Amino acid sequence: MLSEVVVVPSTQHPMAPSTDETTVLTLPSTSESADSSQGLSGIILDGQWRLDTLRPKDLNAVAAICKESFPLDYPQSWYEDVVTGRFIAYGVFYGQTLTSLLVAEIKKIADCDNEDKGLDSDPESLVVYILSLAVSSAYRRRGIATVLLDYLLKTYVNNAFPKLVFLHVLSTNYGAISFYKRSGFKHYSTIPNYYYIDNTYQSGSTFVLYTARSVSPYSVSAMFNYVLAYVCRPFRALFRSKFC
Ligand SMILES: CC(C)(COP(=O)(O)OP(=O)(O)OC[C@H]1O[C@@H](n2cnc3c(N)ncnc32)[C@H](O)[C@@H]1OP(=O)(O)O)[C@@H](O)C(=O)NCCC(=O)NCCS
Repeated sequence: MLSEVVVVPSTQHPMAPSTDETTVLTLPSTSESADSSQGLSGIILDGQWRLDTLRPKDLNAVAAICKESFPLDYPQSWYEDVVTGRFIAYGVFYGQTLTSLLVAEIKKIADCDNEDKGLDSDPESLVVYILSLAVSSAYRRRGIATVLLDYLLKTYVNNAFPKLVFLHVLSTNYGAISFYKRSGFKHYSTIPNYYYIDNTYQSGSTFVLYTARSVSPYSVSAMFNYVLAYVCRPFRALFRSKFC
């Protein structure tokens, strides 16, 4: 179980020059014993940097990071869900400033979109789905997304039953795709018309990280689900609210 940490509020604006500006963050090895059933109560990363759960006080900061990072508008109810415990949701803070967020959920393959059901041959398999990952632009390329992902893998994937983690990303989001590939994710499929952005349909790509047993992602049922999803996609994209 993680011990509670007390973080002294920053007296310096996070954008002001400081030695922390160039800090490359890593997840401390002690967090490997993190227990997901206990929730996250704060992990000091380095100085004023800490990993912590997103709470209602963070709603405006979460909304600001999402608006800056994604070309889609999330409904207000989504932000409320993120900060009130509906999802696995945490971020890296610099002092009191939220710099980033990762939102994920654990669900059965049977409850995934049809085109993703072939990720595992057992419909009862539990998988981790990343709904959202974003780092505020002022804080990118210093390892923050890597820390967020490492925590997810150590706490919710390697320790427990889910055998894979996956996500969807805009197919032209090359920076994010580089990040995921560098983190070990493999391209699983490209889904035409997955996103509806600025009155235009755009492709999404599914990336997956298998952590344990092998699967047969190209089974007959997987191919059937993929074709079905392709036909239905333009209608569903109109109502899509998640963006990773
Ligand atoms: C993608 C994103 C989350 C990466 O966050 P980050 O904290 O900057 O990532 P890290 O510092 O942990 O990057 C680790 C490595 O991933 C790769 N990487 C990260 N961002 C990259 C980019 N824009 N272009 C190319 N490679 C990138 C690099 O290899 C990097 O290592 P390096 O800095 O030593 O070269 C961030 O750019 C972001 O929030 N983008 C906007 C929102 C978004 O696209 N989210 C993902 C949608 S699914």
